[in-house]
Amino acid sequence: MESGMRSLLSDNSRYVESFRLFLRNSTEHQCMQNFIENKLADIVCSIGNGKTAINVLGVGSGSGEIDLQMLSKIHDRYPGVSIHNNIIEPSPEQILSYKERVFKTPGLDHITFHWNKKTSAEFEAQVKAEKQETKYDFIHMIQMLYYVKDVPATLTFFRSLLAAHGKLLIILVSGKSGWSTLWKKYGSLLPLNDLCLYITAGDIADMLQSLGAKHQVYDLQSDMDITECFVDGDRNGELLLDFLTETCDFKKTAPTDLRDDIIQELRKSGCSSMRDGKIIFNNNLSVIVVESEQA
Ligand SMILES: C[S@@+](CC[C@H](N)C(=O)[O-])C[C@H]1O[C@@H](n2cnc3c(N)ncnc32)[C@H](O)[C@@H]1O
Repeated sequence: MESGMRSLLSDNSRYVESFRLFLRNSTEHQCMQNFIENKLADIVCSIGNGKTAINVLGVGSGSGEIDLQMLSKIHDRYPGVSIHNNIIEPSPEQILSYKERVFKTPGLDHITFHWNKKTSAEFEAQVKAEKQETKYDFIHMIQMLYYVKDVPATLTFFRSLLAAHGKLLIILVSGKSGWSTLWKKYGSLLPLNDLCLYITAGDIADMLQSLGAKHQVYDLQSDMDITECFVDGDRNGELLLDFLTETCDFKKTAPTDLRDDIIQELRKSGCSSMRDGKIIFNNNLSVIVVESEQA
């Protein structure tokens, strides 16, 4: 790895800015919303049976847009039941956006929100040190497992927090997405470090298999318009390139050969296709629903 390159996550405001731009340029949240609309009711249909309160844990919730939609589906299924929503999110900017969203959204009186400004590893250490015994009926980790150091241990820990009939929902890029093509070819040349792993849902499914964890996989089709990445000097294009490579200021800090190779690769059919004069990156995702050990 070239020493000039550093992980995008080491600059939190640039990370949040490029993530927001990625959301604007992709169907990432729309395809999650469709999934929530059409499939989540079935997934959560027995998580709260016989309970007076449902415990939800969001890990790496960001600004909470997807969280609130899932909470609404849980409420539809269990209208008279209160929800305790615990959130683990290390970014102060994201926590602030989440709080603003809750403040602006009517009809959330049945939910209590508790934000923990922590990484998942810090939360795990706290739970263990305090010997906390809280069990959760629904845990989600949406597009965040790239950022943990030990993925199998994290999966094992959070699964152990599930109540009987509880569900752990994970979303990551699909093993058949443009991300997977890009990372397989160039991941080892990018600033892979403690802060970011180039893993896909395919890797997670393999890990769950070896952990003996019962799970189901759903594929979601999603696109990302990366046309701006090919316009010289375009700031949005530069931020999108940062997000694609998880590298801070990729265009300026990457060695010239690597930069040119990646920019060329992004146009190729393993990553993208042309549509209406635009270059559309394959942002396909997978949802993995893991059963409780006590199911
Ligand atoms: C790609 S964003 C996804 C946000 C949200 N789940 C969504 O899909 O819109 C990843 C989130 O994980 C958070 N994050 C990064 N490292 C983390 C860690 N070690 N533990 C928990 N969350 C983390 C980031 O701050 C960010 O909000």
